[in-house]
Order: sequence, then structure tokens, then C-alpha cells
Amino acid sequence: MVESFVLNTGARMPSVGLGTWQIEPEAVCNAIYAAVKSGYRHIDSAVAYRNQKEVGLALKKLFEDGVVKREDLFITSKLWSGNHAPEDVDDDISSALEDLQLDYIDLYLIHGPIRIKKGTMLIPENLIPTDIPATWRAMEKLYESGKARAIGVSNFSCKKVEDLLAIARVTPAVNQVECHPVWQQAKLRKLCQSMGIHLSAYSPLGSPGSPGYCGPSVLSNPIVIYIAEKLQKTPAQVALRWGLQMGQSVLPKSADETRIKANFNIFDWSIPEDFMAKFFGIKQARLLKIEFAVQPQSGYNSLEDLWDGEVEKENGRAECEDHSDFLRCFL
Ligand SMILES: NC(=O)c1ccc[n+]([C@@H]2O[C@H](COP(=O)([O-])OP(=O)(O)OC[C@H]3O[C@@H](n4cnc5c(N)ncnc54)[C@H](OP(=O)(O)O)[C@@H]3O)[C@@H](O)[C@H]2O)c1
Repeated sequence: MVESFVLNTGARMPSVGLGTWQIEPEAVCNAIYAAVKSGYRHIDSAVAYRNQKEVGLALKKLFEDGVVKREDLFITSKLWSGNHAPEDVDDDISSALEDLQLDYIDLYLIHGPIRIKKGTMLIPENLIPTDIPATWRAMEKLYESGKARAIGVSNFSCKKVEDLLAIARVTPAVNQVECHPVWQQAKLRKLCQSMGIHLSAYSPLGSPGSPGYCGPSVLSNPIVIYIAEKLQKTPAQVALRWGLQMGQSVLPKSADETRIKANFNIFDWSIPEDFMAKFFGIKQARLLKIEFAVQPQSGYNSLEDLWDGEVEKENGRAECEDHSDFLRCFL
């Protein structure tokens, strides 16, 4: 039963979603069309990805062409970091709904525990401390209004999830976080499972080649390659299938039709238990640390603060620091 996961709202979330970060606006329509034709029913988007309007055009075309109906798709979007103030949250989703040409969003997430001043760009000078309880109360109103059929968070550590649960009236349905064989999130997965929060894996292939990601590769990990060879699958399929068997949805991004199809071809086979056990031997490293958010004005004085200790200090930190520009369009 890995084709979909049931959220704490009762809704079913298809377990493989197409990631849309870093797909060029002019390419995203073809990618989504190819994905849906291949069987994907879940699209992960965000205003921060700067292609949300084009995602909306792709959805419109799919509906007009009769490929799928709105209710067949699960669409995620995310609150912009400059719109955390409670009075801005409703406008934020309204603008996402307009971009996407939808009248509801299946899942709306706080994109990260990172906030900037309203109307400014995501650069370190504009960072301000978050007030997650206030933002969450506004997210709860979106859920009650039906504009968002589920609400959740992204990039939340165990501590941030626990702090949120202490004040939430509506338990988040999802925590979308970096998760793949090289950063398995064992502690967070256990916490989320025990609280009825679904863990959704972003960068499930380790985001190969993305600036800002540093550390060991997922797709060239010897254990992943060994298992792929044994099962006659690709390393990407093994990484994704591992995610499903761990109980998480996976959001692989590809703009290439062949890889889009291959990444979905993970349902009619499984990784045997003895091979699943081998993943526990992989040395762990968070690949995306988001260093630029560590600033006096953000309230995060260190990476340990930002991730509440869930980060490996020794892993390539210096290499990452130069990529902060790129990450500005990301949260
Ligand atoms: N909430 C957040 O803060 C957050 C952060 C990061 C990502 N996300 C979401 O998660 C999605 C996925 O994460 P991601 O884009 O960082 O990384 P990813 O899905 O782990 O990796 C994407 C990269 O892998 C390549 N690729 C795809 N399929 C492949 C295959 N079968 N074999 C080899 N290479 C393959 C893609 O290139 P091609 O396009 O050329 O195939 C692309 O360069 C994002 O698009 C976004 O929707 C959310």
C-alpha cells in the first residue's frame, strides 16, 4: 500500500509527487503534462519556485484536454516567507490559488521556519524572527475556510514540530523535509509518525548538482548502487522506493520525460528486507543546511539553532556558504 498515504485529515496523498523547483517556467508545462500522462497525481509547487503561474497553465490544459479532473490531483503550495504575518496569510493563498487557477489547494505548507520582512527579497538583511504560533493560527483559518484542504509545515526539526504541537488546534498534516538515504531523518520520522504527521521527502534523490547542496551523493552511494544492480533498477528508483517503504511520500523533480517516467516506475517491485537493512549503514549528512538564515536578525545564531541540533557540523559547511544567493529563491 505505497501508492498513497492517508493524511490525518482523512485525505489520500499520492505517494509520488513531481517536484517543480528549478524547472524553467517554459518547461514546467511539458514536465507536468508528461508526469500526469505517466500516472503522477501529485504536484509539489511554491511561489518561491517562480513558475507557479506556468504550473497553473499546465493544470488548466490537463483539465481542458480531459486528461484528469481537478479532484484526481493533489496539489501542494507553500506560504511565502515574507507573508508570515497572520493578516497576510489569506492573501498569500489567494494569490497562489490565482496562479494555479484553482479554487482550493490540497496541502498548504509554511515553507520554512524562516521569515523576511513583507514585500522584500529573500536576502539575509531582510530576515526577521518567526512567530510560528501566530502564523499557524492564520494557517488554521485557511484550513477551516476550505481554501487549503490540509495544512502543514516544511523544514521543521523535531523541536519545532513539538513547539508547534504545543499550541496547535489543528495538527499539521505533513512535514516536508529533506529526506533520502544519505539523510534519513530517523528521529523526525519517528516523532511525526507518533503524532500522526506525514513525513514527505523533498530532494529524494539528493538534488544532484544543485548549488547549496553539499556532501555525499545519493545516486553514487555504493550501497544504493549495489542494491540497484542487484534489483536491476536505477539508483534513482532505489532511492525513491526506499522512501516509499520507509512510509514517506517522495517528490522527485525532473524536467526530462524519460526520467519522469522512470521515477514513477517504482510500484510493481520492492526492496527486500535484507537490502532495506543495508541503508542503515549509510553515513548520514544533511545536504541542504541553508546557512544564509543564520544571522543575528533572524534569531538563529548557528546552524544548530536553525535545525535544533539536527545537522552535522563537520559536513562541508565551508563549501556551502558561497551558495546563499541561489537559495534566496528557494524558501
Ligand atoms: N520544502 C522545501 O524547502 C523544498 C526544498 C527542496 C526541494 N523541495 C521540493 O522537492 C522537489 C525535489 O527536490 P529537488 O528538486 O531538490 O531534488 P531531487 O528531486 O532530489 O533531484 C532533482 C535532480 O535530479 C535529477 N534527476 C531526476 N531524476 C533523475 C534520475 N532518474 N536519474 C538521475 N538524475 C535524476 C534532476 O535532473 P533532470 O531534471 O535533468 O532530470 C534534478 O537535477 C523540488 O523540486 C521541490 O518541489 C522542497
